[in-house]
Amino acid sequence: MNAPTTPQEFAAKIPDGVYAETVLSVEHYTDRLFRFRMTRPAGFRFRSGEFAMIGLMVGEKPVYRAYSIASPAWDEELEFFSIKVPDGPLTSHLQMIKPGDTVLMRKKPTGTLVLDALTPGKRLYMFSTGTGIAPFASLIRDPETYEKFEEVILTHTCRDVAELKYGIDLVDEIRNHEFLSELAGDKLKLYSTTTREDYPHQGRITDLIENGKLFTDLGVAALDPKIDRGMICGSAAMLKDTKDLLEKSGLTEGANNKPSEFVIERAFVG
Ligand code: A2P
Repeated sequence: MNAPTTPQEFAAKIPDGVYAETVLSVEHYTDRLFRFRMTRPAGFRFRSGEFAMIGLMVGEKPVYRAYSIASPAWDEELEFFSIKVPDGPLTSHLQMIKPGDTVLMRKKPTGTLVLDALTPGKRLYMFSTGTGIAPFASLIRDPETYEKFEEVILTHTCRDVAELKYGIDLVDEIRNHEFLSELAGDKLKLYSTTTREDYPHQGRITDLIENGKLFTDLGVAALDPKIDRGMICGSAAMLKDTKDLLEKSGLTEGANNKPSEFVIERAFVG
């Protein structure tokens, strides 16, 4: 980052109408993935699963990208899970942040991966690849998810085992959390798979839905629009392929203004 020399100079550069928040912690998982937490502005409200525009001053100009908020709506801090793109306009800089640095955030969060966009059901699937797990990291820490669903299945597929760590640590944290552990109880299941390294469960989630292995491994029946609801977050190709399979099973896509049986959102990169 091109840090200005004095706090006054820095403050003068921050655009009007955006929050300037302080980085609290940074954890690097691999050379492609990291997580950071920052302060939450007092007036900032969002629904678990939504995204916000996150930015940094790069030289004289702010650069923003969409980021799913990975922390739940009740949390006093904000958490984000990010890819590192070597030439990415934002992530090439964002990956260098340290506690105490300033991160910008536009004021209005939005998004379709929210519980309100789904009609009532029994089992909620959250299908994710890579950093697409971020909105679900928010939702599986929100008590409302467990009020609305009897079973919550988070699938996370990455290239290799090291990339699964964020999701595995997160579910461990929930299992040890003072009040979430009770709410999530036996309802929450994490199904992690790799596609380029050996692991107990392997393969693309689309293949595992299509060949039925996902359901056999989980001990549940195949997708049923009367029972199952879905949320999907991953690359454009993953969204399309997973959406096609859900539609083939009879589920229809919903939106904020028209709740239905599944919703999708692109995992953002750059
Ligand atoms: P694969 O290793 O077979 O490409 P990335 O890190 O490139 O975003 O990929 C994250 C995960 O998503 C990888 O395990 C990758 O599998 C998988 N993936 C990529 N494209 C699709 C798709 N069209 N449908 C399902 N999974 C996909």
